[in-house]
Amino acid sequence: MTKNLSRTLAAQTLDLVAQQVKLQGWVQTKRDHGKVTFIDLRDRSGLVQCVGVDQLQDVAVESVIEIIGTVKARPAKMVNQDLATGAVEVKVEQYQVLNLAQELPITLTGDGKDIGEQPRLKYRYLDLRRNRMQKILKMRSAFNRAIREYLYQQDFVEIETPMLTRSTKEGARDFIVPSRFQPGKFYALPQSPQQYKQLLMTAGFERYFQITRCIRDEDLRADRGFEFTQLDLEMSFVDKPQVMNMVESLVKTAVKAVGGQLRDQTFPVVDYDQALNKYGADKFDLRTDQEKKQGLLAFAWVVKFPFFKKVDTSDAAEVRDGKSGWTFTHNPFSNPEPEFIKDHLAGKNIDKIITDQYDLVCNGYEVGGGSIRAHRPEILKQTFKIMGYSDQEIETSIGHMLEAFKLGTPPHGGIALGLDRLVMVLAQETSVKETIAFPMTSTGRTAVMTAPSKVSQEQLAELGLQVIDTEKSSSA
Ligand code: AMO
Repeated sequence: MTKNLSRTLAAQTLDLVAQQVKLQGWVQTKRDHGKVTFIDLRDRSGLVQCVGVDQLQDVAVESVIEIIGTVKARPAKMVNQDLATGAVEVKVEQYQVLNLAQELPITLTGDGKDIGEQPRLKYRYLDLRRNRMQKILKMRSAFNRAIREYLYQQDFVEIETPMLTRSTKEGARDFIVPSRFQPGKFYALPQSPQQYKQLLMTAGFERYFQITRCIRDEDLRADRGFEFTQLDLEMSFVDKPQVMNMVESLVKTAVKAVGGQLRDQTFPVVDYDQALNKYGADKFDLRTDQEKKQGLLAFAWVVKFPFFKKVDTSDAAEVRDGKSGWTFTHNPFSNPEPEFIKDHLAGKNIDKIITDQYDLVCNGYEVGGGSIRAHRPEILKQTFKIMGYSDQEIETSIGHMLEAFKLGTPPHGGIALGLDRLVMVLAQETSVKETIAFPMTSTGRTAVMTAPSKVSQEQLAELGLQVIDTEKSSSA
């Protein structure tokens, strides 16, 4: 008979007093009192205390077990106020260990921040069991859901773009992937879907979005990973205020959906120059100490960035893009603000040209960036001329965009929001790793499975590759 019982979740036991239930989950805690053993059983809904008389002695903490028992109301003075199910307990009648846990290599009590990064990420599947991590990942899921629902309501279409592609010019180094069919040739992993989403505007979708992974080989920091997730979107027939308004309502809706509290119902708009003068940086924290304690989110827009800057010769990507000594500050596909188009086309007063770019900052982090794009081919071409590209180099790197822009491309603009960073500020965390299920270590090693790793001679041969400095590549 008991075999046919369907599973009850811990949280449901509260409504099932006097009934027989089947529970399945993990042993959160275990206390032995002679013949009587108490455990807190954990499943996705929460915890419930189970009591075994001459039972449960052999179960170890964090093992997976199944229990059949009867739900009992606890006497009033025994109610555990700290537990949602504290008014009941389950008297164990039968139990079965489904997977016995050995002693755990990391401790799961506390927030986990005192554990070294190496063991925490090696055993990430254990680390993720802790309440704090479960809460963050569930919040991330709810945040994504709120974003999707909002955008679907606004007539956006969710479209995927390629992962194996060519360099996208987001100003970082590419991760490259060798081609087996064409030995000696390489794909680049996308630093963003920038060009594809613009081509989707040429294709007539008018409103596109995608929650997508972007991959950039740049120095790792607390707010930066090799892989990260963007909410990427693009709209046709819009101007800057329209995109900013849409994004602002979207962010407000999604933030509120997960319980985030905004400092400003209307996001302040700050000019880049003004931001530098007032805050010393183009990303800033508007909160007072009191507002920080309250966990408020202070969003603001930053606008009126210079389009170009002098190349930083210590930055390989800037040196590559800025052949003339000038390179773009944000996005080479942006339009100059209308009053600077004349100078842009004439290649005059380059340092004064302002780009039609808008960044979104929150609590001191850059959480998004976008722009109205150059949809006239001569403007886009001129951007690359200013950076010192020859006609031939322009043709090879963006010829396909220039061609599309001669075949009926509407005016368009968009933005990408950094989802890891947004969830990080929502969760009051200071590292994006706390928002990612399986993040990398700060030295670029993957969690749980060790990568990067060597590949076999056969694989290398098939790809037409030869590793020249094995000493270096094995110690990296
Ligand atoms: P951008 O390069 O500014 O713009 O990226 C958009 C947002 O993505 C986040 N971000 C990152 N998050 C974690 N780790 C990283 N390495 C990382 N790099 C960027 C930031 C940033 O604001 N194609 C343009 C967008 C557009 O113009 O539509 C782009 O990718 O929060």
